Amino acid sequence: MPTTLEIKTPRLITALPGANAQQVIAADAKFMSPSLTREYALVAKKGHGAIVEDVDGNSFLDFAAGIAVCSTGHCHPKVVEAVQKQAAELIHISGTDFYHHHLPQLAEKLVATMPGREAKKVFFGNSGTEAVEGAIKLARYATKRDKLIAFYGCFHGRTLGSLSLTASKNTQRKNFGTLLGGVEHIPFPYAYRCPHGHTAETCGTEILELLEQQMFKRLFAPEEIAAIIIEPIQGEGGFIPAPAFFLQELQRICNRHGILLIVDEVQSGVGRTGKWWAYEHAGIEPDIVCVAKGIASGMPLSAFVAKEGVMTWKKGSHGTTYGGNPVCIASALATLDLIEHSYRENARKMGDYIFGRLHDWTKRFKIVGDVRGKGLMIGVEIVRDQKTKEKAADLRDAVVSKAFHKGLLTLSAGENTIRMSPPLLIDEEQADFAIRTLEECFREVEKTI
Ligand SMILES: Cc1ncc(COP(=O)(O)O)c(C=O)c1O
Repeated sequence: MPTTLEIKTPRLITALPGANAQQVIAADAKFMSPSLTREYALVAKKGHGAIVEDVDGNSFLDFAAGIAVCSTGHCHPKVVEAVQKQAAELIHISGTDFYHHHLPQLAEKLVATMPGREAKKVFFGNSGTEAVEGAIKLARYATKRDKLIAFYGCFHGRTLGSLSLTASKNTQRKNFGTLLGGVEHIPFPYAYRCPHGHTAETCGTEILELLEQQMFKRLFAPEEIAAIIIEPIQGEGGFIPAPAFFLQELQRICNRHGILLIVDEVQSGVGRTGKWWAYEHAGIEPDIVCVAKGIASGMPLSAFVAKEGVMTWKKGSHGTTYGGNPVCIASALATLDLIEHSYRENARKMGDYIFGRLHDWTKRFKIVGDVRGKGLMIGVEIVRDQKTKEKAADLRDAVVSKAFHKGLLTLSAGENTIRMSPPLLIDEEQADFAIRTLEECFREVEKTI
């Protein structure tokens, strides 16, 4: 029987979930926090490339990549080697108190991926939410202002500061009391549902008007606003790209008023869209960039990268015990190398290939309302009726579940979107399998309505 190392497409050998998976799920229900949102019964054991094997020996094609984390696939040999070598040499030294040669080495590499007119500096943390927390603190510190503007549908994390920005699903905020003051949200340019009938290139003009003509005049004077934070492609909110002109205009407005532009690349970054950073498609240079997920192939590492003139805070203003842990940094160094030399280009190429194959989905499947994204960040919005665009969360969930039972791992996003965010190393055979499988699922689900 071929091993996980040898196969490229799924192989299911038991009903799902299998007997071993059922045992783990029962133990999990007894001891684990019920707040975790498992969409289906995958109990993972090992992984290689874009394949994940479960505890019963079933293999799946992973088009979720641990929520866009396993950028170089599961357990890439070069990442594993780097992690093992570093773990044998030094597991921990706190970068807050001491130096380690890997810290400036990775910081320099990261900054080199974000060219622009200004030099940049880096702070390492452990998770996306920490990167956002740090960015909020830095923006307030640097501007001596405290107001923040974010967008409806955005997801920036679940700790209390980042949660104050998050406006994706009300369950994420409900019952957690008063969040950070001085935060307001404005609509995100959502071309498929643009109330003004704009296209994916022009949607958002009215939002910028709202910002300048209403928000700035009636709520927050611009000189009170520390930062505007945006995901260039909303992730959790439904894989919705912001038009390039919108990001460019936002930058202009920020520059005009001394407001910092924070770009959250936690999900969209590290080569996933075919460029290092999704904001590069708009040719802007943000003041602060938040990075996590794909940067270390699954080891917990995040960063926020700020223009040198912004990151001027004093010794002791911000710190961390684990952030920039040597093992995670070693993993990130190996990851960036792989992305630079092959996977970023592969993400672009495979993204073009997949979008080329999906161009007629809205014509062929009546439940597919919209297909959107960039590179290997692909969203498919599921509707009950293409004319009314009625959101069909139940049909979306049915597709995601059926795909799992056929060996394809995807995730939901937003209210009614399927997200595909595979490892950046997938090939055409794997893309074809995913496309074929989703098409089968659409046909089966369409028969039920
Ligand atoms: C854009 C974005 N920002 C921040 C976060 C929070 O990251 P973490 O879950 O690592 O705290 C996420 C997580 O999905 C995200 O997608």
